[in-house]
Amino acid sequence: MNTELDSFAVLILAAGRGARMHSGKPKVLQSLLEEPVVYYPLKAVQDAGLKHISAVVGYGGGQVEAYLEKEWPEAGVIWQREQQGTAHAVMAAREWWEKFKHVMVISGDVPLIQADTLSDLVDKHLRTDPKCSFISFLLDDPSGYGRVVRLADGGVRIIEDRDAIEEELAIHEINSGVYIFETESLSAVIEKIGRANTLGEYNITDAVALIGETEGDVNIVVSDDRSELLGVNTPNDLAVTAEILNRRIIGCHMRNGLKCMDPRTTWIGPRVSLEPDVFIEPGVQIWGKSSIASRVRIGAYSLLRDVTIGQGAVLFGPSVASDSVIGKDAVIGPFAVLRGKAEVDDSAKVGRFVEVKKSKIGTGSKVPHLSYIGDAVIGEGTNIGAGTVTCNYNGKNKNRTIIGDRCFVGSDTMFVAPVSMGDDAHTAAGSVVTKDVPPGALAISRPRQDNIANWSGRVTIEGKEKKDDEGN
Ligand code: UD1
Ligand code: CA
Repeated sequence: MNTELDSFAVLILAAGRGARMHSGKPKVLQSLLEEPVVYYPLKAVQDAGLKHISAVVGYGGGQVEAYLEKEWPEAGVIWQREQQGTAHAVMAAREWWEKFKHVMVISGDVPLIQADTLSDLVDKHLRTDPKCSFISFLLDDPSGYGRVVRLADGGVRIIEDRDAIEEELAIHEINSGVYIFETESLSAVIEKIGRANTLGEYNITDAVALIGETEGDVNIVVSDDRSELLGVNTPNDLAVTAEILNRRIIGCHMRNGLKCMDPRTTWIGPRVSLEPDVFIEPGVQIWGKSSIASRVRIGAYSLLRDVTIGQGAVLFGPSVASDSVIGKDAVIGPFAVLRGKAEVDDSAKVGRFVEVKKSKIGTGSKVPHLSYIGDAVIGEGTNIGAGTVTCNYNGKNKNRTIIGDRCFVGSDTMFVAPVSMGDDAHTAAGSVVTKDVPPGALAISRPRQDNIANWSGRVTIEGKEKKDDEGN
């Protein structure tokens, strides 16, 4: 099987503008569960074991190319400078796919397609050995799609919605936009495709009829999953497909042990990995390449992106964490914000209204309330009092604060960075620390308190008599 897959090229059509999105961003880069639309067909193709993949780019092609180079370096990029239709896009890549025996052509805007469906198409194609195969499916409302017209002589033709006559419009079997062609046959017909249609475009759908007429058999694989081949053309399609994908992803995690209180309000991206026995409260969003270990609990309305969370950690919601690592049995939130490579080590605590940016909180250390910790390293077993701030920015540069192990930082300490504090050191509450604190020392830096006796005797509070006058 593997050697046979090696004879397949896969061409992903991703050059179209997607005018119906009303966006400067090309359609295939529109966000679906925080991944570009084109991520999904690429992933399905890859999961089906197909290796020779290229994408045709055009509209906003620089952006698409940049994404592909970063996230799919193994995929090739072929330019279609002017977008004159799907056959024109396939033509632009001709030199590349002609090196293979078969070419699978798939639209970049069918994100619900699954690897199994592509494998099934490949298997059937190899078994029946036609010149062309494509997937069709049945929709109650076929409007907008190309209709599959099965002719009396056994032939087949695909007619676009905008070009169809009334009887054709009544057909519910539609073209999915996923095809396999024998490259020899496709080469033989591709230049014969004309543009005598409403939009004046070259349509790859015409290759199907031409191959049937002159090259040999066309095999239609009718899919029984109606949702899997929905195309994404409008903002409404984005919302509908996002919901279907999300349900599919959460369903899959639940089969592996996820406990999700409210799947309808929970959103999980396709690259998130969850170990069994994670518990998620309502309204949670988890995106990017996040990885969450077993027995983690994620509190309501938390938003996580590109985070790694160790076993048994608890996040009280709502909390926000991005690009950060949370250790085993750590306790976070509620109302905590972790960002910019924050690292909270095992059993550490980042509590209520605490923001941690690009800092490490050592094992067992605690920042329980109302603090900003930025560009800092905190050792192990240290306690940071409420309201502590690392003053990391002097208007020009970001500076670091280093705090040792087993320190006790009094409430409302300001660390004016760059500054450090040795192991076992203390600060007095309300101190402004501008000089390094040696190990074991107490830093106290605040005005001394004067108590003025009988003060209350000297002030008059409006509406009240002087206390002295009351005679006590
Ligand atoms: C296409 C099919 C239609 C099918 C539907 C399924 C054609 C003519 N029609 O229609 O039969 O039912 O998909 O979803 O193929 N593209 C390019 N270059 C171009 C034009 C388009 O790369 O010059 C790309 C687009 O980015 C898109 C794909 O080709 O990913 C399909 O184009 P789109 O305009 O979305 O075609 P549909 O009208 O959806
Ligand atoms: Ca489309």
